[in-house]
Amino acid sequence: MDAPLALLAELTHRCPLRCPYCSNPVELTRAAQELTTGEWARVFDEAAALGCLQVHLSGGEPLARRDIAEIIAAARAAGLYTNLITAGVTLDAAKLAELQAAGLDHVQLSVQDAGAAGAERIGGLPGAHARKRDAARAVTGAGLPLTINAVVHRQNLHNLPALIDLALDWGARRLEVAHVQYYGWALANRAALLPPRDMLDAATRVVEEARLRLKGRLVIDYVVPDYHAVRPKACMGGWGRRFLAVSPAGRILPCHAAETIPGIVFPSVRETSLRDAWEGSDAFNRFRGTAWMPAPCRGCEHAERDWGGCRCQAAALTGHAAATDPACALSPDHHLLGAALAEAGAPDFTYRQFG
Ligand code: SF4
Ligand code: FES
Repeated sequence: MDAPLALLAELTHRCPLRCPYCSNPVELTRAAQELTTGEWARVFDEAAALGCLQVHLSGGEPLARRDIAEIIAAARAAGLYTNLITAGVTLDAAKLAELQAAGLDHVQLSVQDAGAAGAERIGGLPGAHARKRDAARAVTGAGLPLTINAVVHRQNLHNLPALIDLALDWGARRLEVAHVQYYGWALANRAALLPPRDMLDAATRVVEEARLRLKGRLVIDYVVPDYHAVRPKACMGGWGRRFLAVSPAGRILPCHAAETIPGIVFPSVRETSLRDAWEGSDAFNRFRGTAWMPAPCRGCEHAERDWGGCRCQAAALTGHAAATDPACALSPDHHLLGAALAEAGAPDFTYRQFG
């Protein structure tokens, strides 16, 4: 069994933004249930002992934690490379200096669109876009590497060239263009977000051209959507192979969306060590490797390349987490994607909120 490369630490579900594609579960965890500073410090020590090299500090908005500097210091003390994934609307130069002194190595800043009006409609927070730009300036001014995260969908994909210009203008070295993945809030908003094929193809051409043009200046990562695919992605690099997440309340998960799968009890850091969860829990072993696979994955030549696709997507679309991911053209459920595409085009969002 390999060691996990990275830990996703979801510090909180609290967030000033209300993005309709948020990857948090529809049932959000409240502040009173969140892990304490000391519990996170223990999680970081256990992750490092397990072989993790880096921690992604995420949420919700990790800056909503008043102890964020202490959390970063604890991750640094454990020997982890620290990456802050933030919406940036509360990140100013003074806060950044405090986090940098605590050991912050890298910042990933989300943008919702290339212009303020579109971005603030999607994120649901007036005034957010200018504050993000100021946060980007603070990050580059402090000499920290900056990645811009742009989640794209049918309501902003036409602005992809402008998003690439924004990343350059704001001083990013890397741009992650990630098509929405449809679990949780995004699944509830699928009809408003799914792009048609011609829009996807045009965006892919924009990325290919920009990669050539900007070689040496900006690295562009591109995460494509599953709904136009014939083969699924190797989600998380395979269940329980490379990746480990801990939820705000301390659940140990093989992927950030795993709690959307019904019928699995995920261990808690309050009762189980990361090592015991990684090596011995049913939650991690259930979809590890290939022995669990049904037909048509069983015996398929791609089984050790894509690991049967995404368990959360299989559960969301078919009701069975052990089913072949419908993104695969060999899946008997592949038609579900075509049906969803045929229904796409709704204009309005259901915004993320605490229930
Ligand atoms: Fe991958 Fe399963 Fe499809 Fe084969 S049948 S390509 S293993 S998802
Ligand atoms: Fe959970 Fe793919 S998002 S396995």
